[in-house]
Amino acid sequence: MMPLLRVEGLYKRFPIAGGRVVKAVNGVSFSLSASETLSLVGESGSGKTTVGRCVLGLETISEGRIQLDGLDLSHARRRDFAKMRGVAQIVFQESSEALDPRMRVGKAIEEPLIPLGADASERRHRASEALEMVGLPRQLMAVYPTELSAGIQQRICIARAMITGPKLIVLDEPTSALDPTARADIIELLQRIQAGSGISYLFISHDLSTVRFLSHRVAVMYLGMIVEQGPAAEVFARPRHPYTVGLLSSALLPNPRLRRPSSVTLAGEIPSPIDLPTGCFLSSRCPLVTERCRAEMPAARTLTTGHSVHCIRSDDVAEAEHTADTFDEFQAQAERILSVGAPPFSPVSDNHVGARHE
Ligand SMILES: Nc1ncnc2c1ncn2[C@@H]1O[C@H](COP(=O)(O)OP(=O)(O)OP(=O)(O)O)[C@@H](O)[C@H]1O
Ligand SMILES: [Mg+2]
Repeated sequence: MMPLLRVEGLYKRFPIAGGRVVKAVNGVSFSLSASETLSLVGESGSGKTTVGRCVLGLETISEGRIQLDGLDLSHARRRDFAKMRGVAQIVFQESSEALDPRMRVGKAIEEPLIPLGADASERRHRASEALEMVGLPRQLMAVYPTELSAGIQQRICIARAMITGPKLIVLDEPTSALDPTARADIIELLQRIQAGSGISYLFISHDLSTVRFLSHRVAVMYLGMIVEQGPAAEVFARPRHPYTVGLLSSALLPNPRLRRPSSVTLAGEIPSPIDLPTGCFLSSRCPLVTERCRAEMPAARTLTTGHSVHCIRSDDVAEAEHTADTFDEFQAQAERILSVGAPPFSPVSDNHVGARHE
């Protein structure tokens, strides 16, 4: 079956002052099926929002191909974009910014229907249905958003996104501004909507515990690249890219086998997206780096677990991660693997015999 969304070899470059270029997205590929949630995770500036905006046609793409619901966005015309607005919607982090304080809730929810040509009575009718869908009373139509809590405002943003009957919603940090109770409510609501409608979510978040709970698949971004992607349970339980291991550890959301969480993160700063490293983008920070990593970008390896990972040392990651209790130990293991002079491109030998094979 054709996926709802297919992104292939996506690049997005932003020209900035001084003739320089921010390379925000660097060859991203993924697909998303109906009723599926794919999460994009990664440090600030890794390109998550830019990918979401490209998918929605809010940014022109520099290279690559995006197909959404049978429509090729790379060649889309104006009226195709109008159609797409009905198919894909977005919910942002800050509901207070997304909602105009001077516009009553009913009008705000109706807004996405205006370019689709719905008349006033249909818009009102569908707005009250959308409110009901997010578990709010229709009386709220007459209220101003500023009178409502952040959690209710975010429900209203979801109602507004749902009003066109979309097949995809890009959720860009939808729960980060909420307290834990409101966050749990929104997550429950998103799951209920998905179960009832078969909608797909592209979920962007720093909150890895929510990601783990909500996602079917996870894609880990670093410097505009997806370095690892796969089924969420697999990526969280058995990360195969050193960056994913670092991210999970620093989020205090340990892999069950990294039992004692550590606040140790990958060493060094994220390189500038204006001046990308040669070779693997992580090579300047990676405990497992080899000369080859510094020289060439690793191709994607597909593992039998359904992971795909851009790392020539993913077998060593598996082994180091398998025998470490903490991320510090993982780093120490990683250094030891290097220092025992293991051949750089093959699974480690001697006391690591018995390394699990994928
Ligand atoms: N319009 C723009 N012009 C120039 N650079 C941009 C523009 N939009 C984004 N960038 C740059 O592109 C890179 C990726 O940004 P993006 O907002 O997609 O990251 P992100 O992963 O969503 O980060 P965060 O977690 O902080 O939201 C960053 O270096 C950012 O500064
Ligand atoms: Mg962002």
